Amino acid sequence: MVSRVIPVETFDLVIFGGTGDLARRKILPGMFRRFLSGQMPQGSRIIGAARSEMDSAAFRAMTADAIAAFGGKESHDKKGLKDFLQCIDYIAIDAKGDAGWAELGAMVRQDVVQSFYFSVAPAFFGDLAERLHRNKIANADSRIVVEKPFGRDLESARALNATLAAHFDERQIYRIDHYLGKETVQNLMAVRFGNMLFEPIWNNHYVDHIQITVAETVSVEGRGAYYDKSGAMRDMVQNHLMQLLCLIAMEPPSQFGADEVRDEKLKVIRALQPVEPQHIVRGQYDADALGPSYREDAENPRSLTESFVAMKCHIANWRWAGVPFYLRTGKRMKARASEISVVFKDLGHTIFEGDEARHRNILSIRLQPNEGIDLQVTIKEPGPGGMRLVDVPLDMTFADALGPDAGDVPDAYERLIMDVIRGNQTLFMRGDEVEAAWAWTDPLIQGWEEREDVPKHYEAGSTGPEDALMLMHRDGRKWREIKA
Ligand code: NDP
Ligand code: BG6
Repeated sequence: MVSRVIPVETFDLVIFGGTGDLARRKILPGMFRRFLSGQMPQGSRIIGAARSEMDSAAFRAMTADAIAAFGGKESHDKKGLKDFLQCIDYIAIDAKGDAGWAELGAMVRQDVVQSFYFSVAPAFFGDLAERLHRNKIANADSRIVVEKPFGRDLESARALNATLAAHFDERQIYRIDHYLGKETVQNLMAVRFGNMLFEPIWNNHYVDHIQITVAETVSVEGRGAYYDKSGAMRDMVQNHLMQLLCLIAMEPPSQFGADEVRDEKLKVIRALQPVEPQHIVRGQYDADALGPSYREDAENPRSLTESFVAMKCHIANWRWAGVPFYLRTGKRMKARASEISVVFKDLGHTIFEGDEARHRNILSIRLQPNEGIDLQVTIKEPGPGGMRLVDVPLDMTFADALGPDAGDVPDAYERLIMDVIRGNQTLFMRGDEVEAAWAWTDPLIQGWEEREDVPKHYEAGSTGPEDALMLMHRDGRKWREIKA
């Protein structure tokens, strides 16, 4: 196997919000794993920056706790941890005031790769950009990493893009969508553009429809205040599902370069048709023995926010005209299972007498768990008794196909942070992409707000509201089973 690893230069990574949940659960443990795999060149530093007053020793202790809690099996590497902690410092800083900025300026070096991760509430993104610039900490090669949500509609996304653009070039801005860092999401591009097999049939002549499901078992507990103002459409569809849709539907880029890929994704978003209200189903989970209802979790007894959404969309271009894309995502569902399925058309004619079954090839790309790809094909059922046909999966679970270590893929965040340090924007959203995604999403949300649409109830632990099943049944199709 040939592996091409692009070297990493010495860097300073400043994590604004270094004491926060995301830093503790994902960023710091992720950087520890990169350190252990030798991707943090000697002399590189990670600087936590947050409001809490503490010294570097206290932040190192907090980092060690975070790694113990969220670092996975690597967290047992005591020697590695000790060495990693030597690379970490902390600055108490006020994103909206003057405190800490001079100290940060003195600490961050100008002759190494500088990356500033904005892991704080979106209300601070503009302040951080402005202060990095005003205090002459950032330079023309610095990178900023901007977390989600990137705006809550087109207007706010435009305003945020403009604020960031006042201080940084587009080539310096890395808008995170962690779904783009997932192993199988990138594999989707490898499967499409690295094989002769699929591209000729990847169009409306052969594809009946495409389904994208991102089902979660978790509730919104603990994040109710944020989520209730957002809902599944803003939280998941506008970004993560939209990115998956783009990768599955885009034209082949001329090369695997940041702008080439993002140009093609942008064309898909711009070709998305408005969705008819009858093609959208919104839901809210009910209470069950394992947990409260959505409205209780959100502490809003009258909430009209959706914790589930399913929809049928169309892309108006030559490749996809007439092919429905069915999307669904929800919280407190039956299983944690995310999958993209390309369902090919039925055979035009069968030569096998007595075979009434509807045989279809289905290519499924499993994002999580158990990442892999499977292709449903029709074969002869073994044994005597004539030509009986049966559908079987040609299953490639990465861990089975590539050895046990293949299942041990880097977390999306750590992969993306290393891409920032390498200066590779391919897996980050460009400003125009985000705006186009909001331009498509806004009218759908406005539509149901104006109609005062009441989400349908669904049982926690189910596959979502009955109406979502009907969305498919009406078209003579059915959702793929959600199974862990
Ligand atoms: P938290 O509320 O857990 O952390 C917020 C961080 O911001 C803390 O480190 C806090 O410092 C710091 N902070 C608050 N006020 C200031 C200030 N005035 N100056 C400097 N620092 C300040 O948030 P999360 O970690 O959960 O989220 C961070 C970002 O990541 C958000 O944009 C969120 O939307 C996004 N995100 C988070 C996910 C998650 O799983 N947590 C998932 C996807 C996106 P202190 O603690 O010292 O007060
Ligand atoms: C986040 C959403 O962006 O993605 C969460 O805000 C969601 O609501 C999460 O739970 C899902 O990510 P993953 O990687 O667990 O599928």
